[in-house]
Amino acid sequence: MVYSSVVDCIGQTPVVRLERLFAGTGIEVMAKLEMLNPGGSAKDRPAKYIIQEGLRSGLIHAGTHLIESTSGNLGIALAMVARAHQLPLTCVVDPKISGTNLEIMRRLGAKIDMVTELDEQGGYLNTRVARVKWLEQQVPGGLWLNQYANENNWLAHYHHTGKEMAEQVSGKIDYLFVAVSTTGTIRGLSRRLKETHPDLKVVAIDAAGSVIFGTPPGPRWIPGIGASRVPELFHPESIDEVVLVNDLEAMEGCMALLEHEGILAGGSSGSVVAGIQKCLPRIPEGSRIVTLLPDRGERYMDSVYDLEWQERIRELSRGRTLA
Ligand SMILES: Cc1ncc(COP(=O)(O)O)c(C=O)c1O
Repeated sequence: MVYSSVVDCIGQTPVVRLERLFAGTGIEVMAKLEMLNPGGSAKDRPAKYIIQEGLRSGLIHAGTHLIESTSGNLGIALAMVARAHQLPLTCVVDPKISGTNLEIMRRLGAKIDMVTELDEQGGYLNTRVARVKWLEQQVPGGLWLNQYANENNWLAHYHHTGKEMAEQVSGKIDYLFVAVSTTGTIRGLSRRLKETHPDLKVVAIDAAGSVIFGTPPGPRWIPGIGASRVPELFHPESIDEVVLVNDLEAMEGCMALLEHEGILAGGSSGSVVAGIQKCLPRIPEGSRIVTLLPDRGERYMDSVYDLEWQERIRELSRGRTLA
């Protein structure tokens, strides 16, 4: 099979049974490796779908300048897809961005707009949103893609990731575990899989310190998972249960994936592993779980896989109440 662009290589990711990590539990855990997308994460899906649907509907055209507030996987995925379509892209980022992600976005041709002023809550979220809105007005053809509110974010997972999962996993599925941030992935997968598995229980894995489910805000260091505001896409009916995972547990989940399965994954994959492990005592034997490993570990060498960083997280955890 020869594809006509890197964008066409997005999707058709494999599903693997994590049978070494969950050996002896009597529970089958299957993980879709979204980390194997060409941009390195599940965010390739919404990036491709948002841009292609925009081009199809005429919302995006040759004169459009794409704008998004993102410092991570979506920025990289958008930069890749935008480049393949020869569309200009500006990513609004803040000083907390990892040097690796910044370099990847730059190399892929994205313009970087760095905000440096803290907002009234001491973070950068509101400053970034204000900047994006300003750029949308000022830049000719400016269009804010807004992953937190864009329906094509969750629809990408409904039409593609979820459809593939339903086809790849034959037989019953009892549980779906998904790490959340914009909640696009969980909403799309839940909607799609419940069509064929109506008794499916959908468990959201959120970061301790994230506010999506009404828990108090707090410091959190694992990128990709959690949010400091409730996304417009949040659809509580798609979710049956929530499990909070803290930074230490997520890091240990990553190490367990590495040790038992040889999978070098990003922080939110560790959160998912830790979340499943927390729930195991109340999951009946013979159950079948599906999950998704959102991104690769290479971008976390100066965080999750850095020994000094790990030690700092352990120290912080000793001084703070664990979720
Ligand atoms: C590594 C990683 N895990 C999980 C998520 C959560 O996905 P969603 O935004 O669809 O809820 C993201 C989203 O940015 C991510 O980058």
